[in-house]
Amino acid sequence: MTVHTASQAAYIVAGLLFILALAGLSRHETARVGNYFGIAGMVVALIATIAQAVSGEITGTSLALLIVAMAVGAGIGLRRAAVVEMTGMPELIALLHSFVGLAAVLVGWNGYLQVECDPAGAESRHLEALGTLGIHHAEVFIGVFIGAVTFTGSIVANLKLSARIKSAPLMLPGKNFLNLGAVVLFVAFTVWFVVSPALWLLIVVTVLALALGWHLVASIGGGDMPVVVSMLNSYSGWAAAASGFLLENDLLIITGALVGSSGAYLSYIMCKAMNRSFISVIAGGFGIEAGPSGDTDYGEHREITAEGAAELLADASKVIITPGYGMAVAQAQYGVAELTRKLRDKGVEVRFGIHPVAGRLPGHMNVLLAEAKVPYDIVLELDEINDDFADTDVVLVIGANDTVNPAAAEDPGSPIAGMPVLTVWEAENVIVFKRSMASGYAGVQNPLFFRENSAMLFGDAKDRVNDILSAL
Ligand code: TAP
Repeated sequence: MTVHTASQAAYIVAGLLFILALAGLSRHETARVGNYFGIAGMVVALIATIAQAVSGEITGTSLALLIVAMAVGAGIGLRRAAVVEMTGMPELIALLHSFVGLAAVLVGWNGYLQVECDPAGAESRHLEALGTLGIHHAEVFIGVFIGAVTFTGSIVANLKLSARIKSAPLMLPGKNFLNLGAVVLFVAFTVWFVVSPALWLLIVVTVLALALGWHLVASIGGGDMPVVVSMLNSYSGWAAAASGFLLENDLLIITGALVGSSGAYLSYIMCKAMNRSFISVIAGGFGIEAGPSGDTDYGEHREITAEGAAELLADASKVIITPGYGMAVAQAQYGVAELTRKLRDKGVEVRFGIHPVAGRLPGHMNVLLAEAKVPYDIVLELDEINDDFADTDVVLVIGANDTVNPAAAEDPGSPIAGMPVLTVWEAENVIVFKRSMASGYAGVQNPLFFRENSAMLFGDAKDRVNDILSAL
């Protein structure tokens, strides 16, 4: 068996391991095993790729470059993974997507230069003999386009998620026509490039796609960012698949298609959960004309102390906790788990209501609560718990804001209008844990804080939960 055949067999094994990884990641209980399958698949893929390179016509310099590139990549990857906070994961993921996009652009440009600058070279003769030169040109063009959109789109997503630029949507005049125009130009240029592969066309499409990626993501408002991250995940998959076609690498095509389709499906599920149109979000907020967050005067808010909160809890028989991003920042999940145990020991019914986009990652709250050993069966999804708030004595809103904002349900002019929210305000008492009256991720004022049955418990969520525990 040649190294090439062995590598092809290894690629199939790696592809299967990646499919098992995705299957495992779809449930909490199997997520860890899913990760192991993914790691095993990546190890097999790397070994097969290196073996293939080493057994080919690789020069000493190329081999040295390969080793250095892998060492630098692994070093940076290990360091980032070790230091990243859970709340910083989405921005790191967005940054990693941008690398996939950039790699696809470079692979596309390399594919073009290899053939066009060396018409008598091995690659050109190979494509000519197969009669697939036109297909090669299309692959170059499409790969560069998807890669460049992914590259700049992911950079904007990274900047928005890390709050280095504002999360409010960019509203250029005629933004929908700009996006649509760029796509129409791309299609026309692709046909042109296949017929006559001029360098200027490749330069134009690269610049066009870089600008489109930037604009697409900049046009999407803060509240819709979760969908953008999964959408860019999908784009990065298709960019990798496009590179796979160019490099004639079956594993890259399979893996790219897996990432592309699972990312698209995740975006679709999240759009459904947030009552957003899938097409509208992937088209850069097409048709969404969000108004500025209003300066409405909602009146005065009330405050409560930790002792007051403890008294309310001691008298309650039904409690629901709705955690959000602030619980993750404060790392309050252990105190919250302890409070849950204490209340349940006293016979209080305690349950959790989890919004699909609470925190900064899909499943963020579920992971934190599982880490703190909160039983799965009292952690409920929005649809499962929303009808029960009216029959609840106390709701603890721990570091959540946008996901419990009544404006989404009641104010059609709100930038988050239509997004399903946890209807916490229907409960008898609502205690909101946060440090100030600041708005949430979407930058929208929250009228919940001014409702008669709401009281603010200011301070770091972990400290306040601990204070309540002491008072109890
Ligand atoms: P957010 O609306 O982000 O609000 C979090 C609140 O936590 C803030 O108002 C903040 O108020 C408070 N907070 C921060 N640190 C705190 C601390 N140490 N102690 C106590 N409170 C603290 O939270 P959410 O309700 O979870 O909504 C998530 C938002 O993020 C949505 O808009 C969603 O679309 C977006 N998003 C979600 C994802 C995914 S996939 N889940 C990804 C990207 C974006 P103070 O500053 O006043 O304390």
